[in-house]
Amino acid sequence: MKKVSKLALAAATVAALGAVTTTCFAEGASTKIGIAMPTQSLERWNRDGSYLQKQFEAAGYEVELTYSDNETDQQVNDIQNMISDGVNMLVIAAIDGESLNTVLEEASAANIPVISYDRLIKSDAVSYYVSFDNYTVGKLQGEYVRDTLDLDNAGDKTYNIEFTAGDPADNNAGYFFNGAYDVLSPYIEAGTLVVPSGQTDFDSVATPAWSTDTAMERMQNILASYYADGTVLDVALCSNDSTALGVAQAIESDYAGDNSILVTGQDGDEANLANVVDGKQSMTVYKAVANEAVVTLDLAKAMLDGTTVDESLIEASGWEFDCSYDTTSYETSEGHACPSFLLVPDVVTKDNMVEKLVDTGYYTQDADGYLHPAE
Ligand code: GAL
Repeated sequence: MKKVSKLALAAATVAALGAVTTTCFAEGASTKIGIAMPTQSLERWNRDGSYLQKQFEAAGYEVELTYSDNETDQQVNDIQNMISDGVNMLVIAAIDGESLNTVLEEASAANIPVISYDRLIKSDAVSYYVSFDNYTVGKLQGEYVRDTLDLDNAGDKTYNIEFTAGDPADNNAGYFFNGAYDVLSPYIEAGTLVVPSGQTDFDSVATPAWSTDTAMERMQNILASYYADGTVLDVALCSNDSTALGVAQAIESDYAGDNSILVTGQDGDEANLANVVDGKQSMTVYKAVANEAVVTLDLAKAMLDGTTVDESLIEASGWEFDCSYDTTSYETSEGHACPSFLLVPDVVTKDNMVEKLVDTGYYTQDADGYLHPAE
């Protein structure tokens, strides 16, 4: 009997089933996904890498996962190795998107599709972007300050605020800062909010590598220069938790006032959630990166199956969380729209952290009330 090749048998089976999609890759069998995360020194990326690896492997894909120590040259090298290893798709959270242009041209030449994960890479080699609505992250921080201080009814009262933004190499950092600043700038212009340091432009308040130490040292300098005379600091607007941690450390060591200070953050890092419990941080914007991984997996499956990817993926996937399909907010450096799947961030405070983080299974709470990431 003529030996029917496995591939021919698979093709016959597919034809018999009247498959509605042309399968480019046998799902899972030999399909390898390269996942490039920026670093393990910023807490959230460990969760992203773990969730992504678990999701893809559970779906039958082989995974090659790297963390590049926030070193752009290392990330380029890691991605080149994945291309040499024959990955069928790349999922990349860039350290610095600009530094990846050449290696992504190599990916294109090898017909390897790219999902830009969380931080937009402005390259035409990118097929889709999966993230949270980054501008809304900042907007939530600004609105939290506005509403907590009731700035609309401040009357003659004024509040002193300082800003700490993120890494200028990270495309997200500008969106976070602008989202917050666009809410608060009318109150600065009206004199209700005052910035004693005078530092309100992104470049002045940015924090390379999102470094906790850099954020701490900058805030220590600001406190020494503008607050040593007893000036009261009311608000420290920080774009994420790693910088908020440094700012809280500076306040603890170098601020003489005894007033409570409103401190914002993002990510739900373990040390910052402890600061929220202890009253050293007021809020964090939480992004369920587990859901970001689910979107990335379902998008990757559709891309590898050759299914048309558009808004219909949201309904077809049946996600139990909100996600929008956006074709206008983000574009490549060539000015081409980068179709994006954007999840929705959430405000977490001491009052709602159990409901938002423990009841959802993302964290556990110990007997002292502190939260720890669930294994
Ligand atoms: C951003 C990310 C944030 C933030 C920062 C540091 O790109 O979206 O969650 O924490 O990097 O990792």
